Amino acid sequence: MNTGTNSPQSSSMMEGIFFGVLCLSGCLTFSTCLLHQYHFVSEAMTWTEAQSYCRGRYTDLATIETTEEMKKLKDTVSAAGYSSKVWIGLYSQIDWKWSDEFTGSGGEYRNWDKSHNEPDYHAAKELCVGMWDIGRWSDYHCHRETAFVCYKGTLEDSDFVVVNTTKNWTEAQRHCREHYTDLVTVRNQADNDKIHNLMRHKVWVWIGLYRDPQIYWSDGSGYSFSSWYQGDIVLGSMKVVCGAADLQQGGKWRLLSCKETFPFVCYSIPTEVETLVKVRVKLQDSSVDLNDRAVREQILKKLQERFNENGLSGVTLEWKEKSDGKVFHKEEKGSDKKKKTEL
Ligand SMILES: *[C@@H]1O[C@H](CO)[C@@H](O)[C@H](O)[C@H]1NC(C)=O
Ligand SMILES: *[C@@H]1O[C@H](CO)[C@@H](O)[C@H](O)[C@H]1NC(C)=O
Repeated sequence: MNTGTNSPQSSSMMEGIFFGVLCLSGCLTFSTCLLHQYHFVSEAMTWTEAQSYCRGRYTDLATIETTEEMKKLKDTVSAAGYSSKVWIGLYSQIDWKWSDEFTGSGGEYRNWDKSHNEPDYHAAKELCVGMWDIGRWSDYHCHRETAFVCYKGTLEDSDFVVVNTTKNWTEAQRHCREHYTDLVTVRNQADNDKIHNLMRHKVWVWIGLYRDPQIYWSDGSGYSFSSWYQGDIVLGSMKVVCGAADLQQGGKWRLLSCKETFPFVCYSIPTEVETLVKVRVKLQDSSVDLNDRAVREQILKKLQERFNENGLSGVTLEWKEKSDGKVFHKEEKGSDKKKKTEL
């Protein structure tokens, strides 16, 4: 080693052994990183009250993204000795729209088949609307292939056309737009009667009413995993509905009036574990400056790759800077240190 007359700046450019401190943070195992931690709250509240409670004490109302998490949530609730409905972070906006985007006078006209609880959004899958041979409407799976009703001209002076081929709702819309104006918009009882008369012996026809799924998690997570109760979800005229997991139905989800009160489940993010590791680097190439940002980043990238190869991708690595802004410091023996201070 050739210590001695080097200025502090160039001392980091020397050969020798250096040490730096690496900060490892992350979850203990990869799988705990992915799972939400659930907390059952036995006090019955409305969905909005439950949301505020969870946001105050934990992270948010429960988000469920996998079958494994669904099981974890059920276990959490069961362990507390509860076995009925609990609010989870799910909610949906009910926003029916006409295919031609009509929102004028009569745009809110509906003729639901109330005797069958329509719209019933069966298993959270019915997003398109048709008319029965009794002239009443119900929501249904958009993929059903059936006859449909288009209109010609403008809505003010329109002719209704019942098309005698069967298509799903999307294809029916395309056909109407190609050959006529659009799928039919029904604005009043007179429109409804006219279409009803044109149906003749058809049991069911598509009309232009539909809605987007619009299902959300309270914490803004994307909705992709689902575990719906395979029965009716009676929407009535509700504009917003909230999600509950029903332990009596194996934890399956249903949408209910947000004003009902139930116990609920919050989630929190697993606590991260932070570890400091001292790293010793033996430098042979004297032109390398370990405290150069690019060099530090490169070493970190290599280490991160090693961690990932070993299945530890949940761990984040970061250099710990000392008060002088540097990470690497030359390893010195007591005598060396003394010698340096003397210089
Ligand atoms: C409607 O039919 C078309 C063509 O068969 C298909 O590509 C499309 O996915 C269907 N849409 C729905 C909602 O089922
Ligand atoms: C519609 O189709 C059915 C069978 O597909 C046929 O019996 C009927 O005559 C057709 N009606 C019209 C008006 O074309």
